[in-house]
Amino acid sequence: MEKKDLKSQINTKKLPEHIAIIMDGNGRWAKEHGKPRVFGHRNGVTAVRETTEAAAELGVSYLTLYAFSTENWSRPKMEVSALMRLLVDTLVKELDTLNKNNIRLKAIGDLSKLPDRTRKALLDGIENTKDNERMTLVLALNYSGKWDLAQAAQKLGEEVAAGRLAPEDIDQEALAGQLSTKDMPDPELLIRTSGEARISNFLLWQLAYAELYFTPVFWPEFRKAHLYEAIIDYQNRERRFGKISEQLVS
Ligand code: IPE
Ligand code: IPE
Ligand code: MG
Repeated sequence: MEKKDLKSQINTKKLPEHIAIIMDGNGRWAKEHGKPRVFGHRNGVTAVRETTEAAAELGVSYLTLYAFSTENWSRPKMEVSALMRLLVDTLVKELDTLNKNNIRLKAIGDLSKLPDRTRKALLDGIENTKDNERMTLVLALNYSGKWDLAQAAQKLGEEVAAGRLAPEDIDQEALAGQLSTKDMPDPELLIRTSGEARISNFLLWQLAYAELYFTPVFWPEFRKAHLYEAIIDYQNRERRFGKISEQLVS
């Protein structure tokens, strides 16, 4: 279907407030084109730009992109350093566009382990866009869901040890309040590209009730129309949250 027709099928009053994406398939896409994996990562930037623009145009409030997992450090050294360099280059190049589009940049993950240049480019980008209000673009970098839960538990432990928190006051709200996503709503929609149907240690707690959408499209080929398709699919689902259909008021 035409992109315009797809967009017009979206009910903008029922948009997910937060969309999270596992951008997968760069390597396989490159291989299909007889190119090295890095070629796939470089072409993935176009998909990031398109998806960010489409989400902002629609009125989505938060877009979280899984850019590098804690497990991704196990890849060949050359690929890891190429990814870290690509991140710096992209952040520097796209900063103006983010500002022009009034988009705020944020990051989640253990940033202390990133190479200095990558961390600096990231922190500069965050600082330079902090007053933008149209949409928040969250990059998950050196992120893993288990890391997030462990670091939250550690912070709660420190609060207890300091006498500021009683163990019996540790409830879901207290834990969520220490997660790296503490100021954001949980994603209502998770998209994963490349045909894989797994979470790969992404937002484990936060995805508790997310609708999962898997598409065979490789990330470098993901465009606005693919995002529209995912949102339309999401809007056609019934989110029951444990209730039965008849209890839901639309
Ligand atoms: C996703 O594409 C990008 C990152 C994980 C950084 P992959 O690099 O995982 O591509 P495939 O899954 O090998 O095709
Ligand atoms: C998940 O993709 C991580 C990112 C997209 C950054 P992977 O390609 O690393 O996941 P697995 O290894 O196939 O589960
Ligand atoms: Mg992959």
